[in-house]
Amino acid sequence: MLRISTLRLLGRALVSRLSLLDVFSSRFYSSDLLGARDCAHDARAYFTTPIFYVNAAPHIGHLYSALLADALCRQRRLLVPTAAATRFSTGTDEHGLKIQQAATAAGLAPTELCDRVSAQFQQLFRDADISSTDFIRTTEARHRRAVQHFWGVLEARGLLYKGLYEGWYCANDECFLPETKVSRQPGPSGDSCPVSLESGHPVSWTKEENYIFRLSHFRKPLQRWLRDNPQVITPEPFHHTVLQWLEEELPDLSVSRRSSHLHWGIPVPGDDSQTIYVWLDALVNYLTVIGYPNVEFKSWWPTTSHIIGKDILKFHAIYWPALLLGAGMSPPHRIYVHSHWTVCGQKMSKSLGNVVDPKTCLDRYTVDGFRYFLLRQGVPNWDCDYYDEKVVKLLDSELADALGGLLNRCTASKINPSGTYPAFCTTCFPSEPGLAGPSVRALAEDYALVNAVATLPKQVADHYANFQIYKALEAVSSCVRQTNGFVQRHAPWKLNWESPVDAPWLGTVLHVALECLRIFGTLLQPVTPSLADKLLSRLGVSATERGLGELYFLPRFYGHPCPFEGRRLGPETGLLFPRLDQSRSWMVKAHRT
Ligand code: MSP
Repeated sequence: MLRISTLRLLGRALVSRLSLLDVFSSRFYSSDLLGARDCAHDARAYFTTPIFYVNAAPHIGHLYSALLADALCRQRRLLVPTAAATRFSTGTDEHGLKIQQAATAAGLAPTELCDRVSAQFQQLFRDADISSTDFIRTTEARHRRAVQHFWGVLEARGLLYKGLYEGWYCANDECFLPETKVSRQPGPSGDSCPVSLESGHPVSWTKEENYIFRLSHFRKPLQRWLRDNPQVITPEPFHHTVLQWLEEELPDLSVSRRSSHLHWGIPVPGDDSQTIYVWLDALVNYLTVIGYPNVEFKSWWPTTSHIIGKDILKFHAIYWPALLLGAGMSPPHRIYVHSHWTVCGQKMSKSLGNVVDPKTCLDRYTVDGFRYFLLRQGVPNWDCDYYDEKVVKLLDSELADALGGLLNRCTASKINPSGTYPAFCTTCFPSEPGLAGPSVRALAEDYALVNAVATLPKQVADHYANFQIYKALEAVSSCVRQTNGFVQRHAPWKLNWESPVDAPWLGTVLHVALECLRIFGTLLQPVTPSLADKLLSRLGVSATERGLGELYFLPRFYGHPCPFEGRRLGPETGLLFPRLDQSRSWMVKAHRT
């Protein structure tokens, strides 16, 4: 039973400079605040990852959250290349009971634990080429100032009151739970232990006087925000889930704990006997990063896209927008939600000993290889299973054989002795399919390839907009396969540069394949930045020719000049992506132990 006893209110509503009537009037929640303002054309974009708990070392699930945000952000930068237009924050969530208890269990002071684990996250993100512009730690002074200011605004707007909170609390998930979300499980000594139905983590009964946020008043404004903005939460099933949650009563939310119980946190301004609830503290990180409460934050706030895991949807899609509306601000622009990674069919957990260390994976599969794997196989709508053989199989077939093999076939000196981007012959490959003539060599399937690659950038952009990055990669991979089919079909190694009949067609086959590779390399930049750089450099594509705005695939086919034709290819720098299955001794070893 979750009971906030308003009857036993110990204090009256706190200082209220605005009347409640004013606060809940429709005037207060203008359509602008509720997201009617579309920032799709706004030049600025602000991406965020969740901030990570520092109770344990990072695992591949954490890296996945950060990679999704990184890929979205890199894609955005390729569309709007002004450096100042994009901001990308990540960081560590360092306060709360969970961290306090983890530090005690490790025999460390909380600050020591936080410094140690936060450094591990920072190192991992550097290693994995996460292009964040900001890293926030909630123990920083700038954050304490932002949280206390935010609290003051809620208080001034009459949205906080003091009352008796009685109910279940799960320290592991840092959340309050109603009786309906709690079940009983046999504990180690056979007795029955209350646990969270959702996470399985233990819960404990709490009864104390806290500050409480009038969350219940926000049910209707939240429903309106979500109904008016059907794309706010992506993918759609998560949007639907939140609307369903809002069909039920929304109880007020306890937003502080007794300091004697929770000392590791930010004190309530003017009342040291209470510590601010860790989720309120954590969510405000998104504002701290952009300078809140200084006015500069306003140029970034409405353009925010949060990338989060499904387990923290309620906090981001209900509590956070309600808190923001309460503080007189707009809810976030977009919330992108992803599912989880399991390992060999099981939830990853320290107690099961199956946590996959991301650093080991980056070392084994290379940074770009592992980035590609997680983003190619991770499906936001449902959980995905991890095992080593799957990584090897995918990377060998798609990066080493298909993409690397294609590049090698078109650039190897045997087949391309001049080391240039050869000319495209419009007589061999006329823009009209079905034309007959002695020099016409292109087949119906070749037109299908040109069409597939020409429409690929738009397809990829749509998949990014729908947060289906794996589908974008699937589409690229399918075009790589089609291009290999094209090369195989025309077997350029059987054609002769010396023959006046063969040469124009041989050049055309290579030109088309190199153009396809240029598109693939450009589109892969957000996911495999170094590999894409290697590929584009080999093709001789300069740094200023890699944006998504000016791709212009196969211009000669469409009757335009091609800036690459006749250009020298870049230097040969070895295999694009070496096969992994020959260097798998560590796998055999790992299986034996
Ligand atoms: N500290 C909170 C977030 C506060 S944001 C204001 C938190 N931290 S967390 O470290 O537990 O999780 C951070 C992110 O990692 C979440 O998006 C979560 O969904 C994600 N993952 C944790 N385990 C995961 C998997 N097994 N698989 C994929 N992502 C997972 O929650």
